[in-house]
Amino acid sequence: MSTNKTKGRILSGIRPTGRVHLGNYYGAIKNWVELQKVYESFFCIVDLHGLTTDYATPQNIAKNTWNMAIDLLACGVDPEKSRLFIQSQVPEHSELHLLLSMITPLSWLERVPTYKDQQRELREKDLSNYGFLGYPLLQAADILLYKASHVPVGEDQAPHVELVREIARRFNHLYGRDEGYESKAKNAISHLDKKTAKRFQALCKDFQEAGNQEARQNGLMLIDKQKSLSVDEKERLLGYLEGKGRVILPEPELLLTKTPVFPGLDGRKMSKSYGNTISFRDSTAEITQKIKTMPTDPARVRRTDPGDPEKCPVWDFHKIYSNDEIKKWVKKGCKSAGIGCLDCKQPVINAMIEELAPIAERVKELEAQPQKVQAIIDAGCVAARKVASDTLAEVKSVMGISSGKINE
Ligand code: TRP
Ligand code: SF4
Repeated sequence: MSTNKTKGRILSGIRPTGRVHLGNYYGAIKNWVELQKVYESFFCIVDLHGLTTDYATPQNIAKNTWNMAIDLLACGVDPEKSRLFIQSQVPEHSELHLLLSMITPLSWLERVPTYKDQQRELREKDLSNYGFLGYPLLQAADILLYKASHVPVGEDQAPHVELVREIARRFNHLYGRDEGYESKAKNAISHLDKKTAKRFQALCKDFQEAGNQEARQNGLMLIDKQKSLSVDEKERLLGYLEGKGRVILPEPELLLTKTPVFPGLDGRKMSKSYGNTISFRDSTAEITQKIKTMPTDPARVRRTDPGDPEKCPVWDFHKIYSNDEIKKWVKKGCKSAGIGCLDCKQPVINAMIEELAPIAERVKELEAQPQKVQAIIDAGCVAARKVASDTLAEVKSVMGISSGKINE
């Protein structure tokens, strides 16, 4: 594994949802393949997250996990460059999730927007279980175990990463104190007048526990205005306000994946739950069939009716796959009824097959070598565990949990 990756460390996770489709590829995986060149990379197949929604029908989780491993490798996730592993095989994820649950206010989890949205969207599933509420907390454990500096995800995951940052901040606030830290700060606070002291402490709490930036600003101004304090005392209060004890779990940054939503076969975004996907495991014939039966501009009832590409989901694919020349041909031919929809779809079919064929080929190769895939994932899990167990030991120690030795 090369070590000259100076940009930091990333961790990302992907749910083992059946077949990987083009939406997953464009939304996340392609990006991972690029990032692994410059970041130290940990990629986690989050099978426990799968269980939070599919606990009642877990029959496919294990199979999907291995299919996902194969698909990721086929797409170019490179075991020489990154660590690819399975969440449940690194039990530290479950342990840290439990430990973090001790310091996580219920309200923080309840207000994550995806919580209520998903419950509404996935009505057919009963998502009133704790595991689903704790979904973003498990994600926090995934990220914080590796002290990741960056988390590459799409826009939909931004609130989760924000929550992870808040949890890290709260953790450091609670457990990152040096000896004497508290008493030194208290001593400085005692030099403020009573009312100011009270207000200062409330601002500290508001910033550190709820991340309220306005409280931080007000705290800074308050310190600045104090004439009775020495420079030294001011600095101490500054540290106290910022919650700067020791940073045990660094706050990760969001690394937004800027891919536009990848379109599905029906004009909505490509998603397994809409049944409008094209996957790496579809045969050439299946891909051809899926595109051929795609809906087009409803105005084109007969071959002689003109249409408008802007009203056609096939056009979305041309925007991704076709060069200017083809796009011009589509626009002109569609509006003048010069071409038929099947003619129009052919370049898309060709381009998709060209893109998917080499990946499908590698999927086949890997499927024929299960021991090789096993060895890659085993090595990924071992490497991940090394980092994860160090973090967990540190976390347990500061949380006051015994390491298991009577004379520690
Ligand atoms: N919640 C993410 C999703 O639904 C998957 C995920 C789990 C993840 N753990 C993670 C993403 C850690 C980034 C980092 O797509
Ligand atoms: Fe869509 Fe192409 Fe048919 Fe126009 S010609 S409606 S763009 S498939």
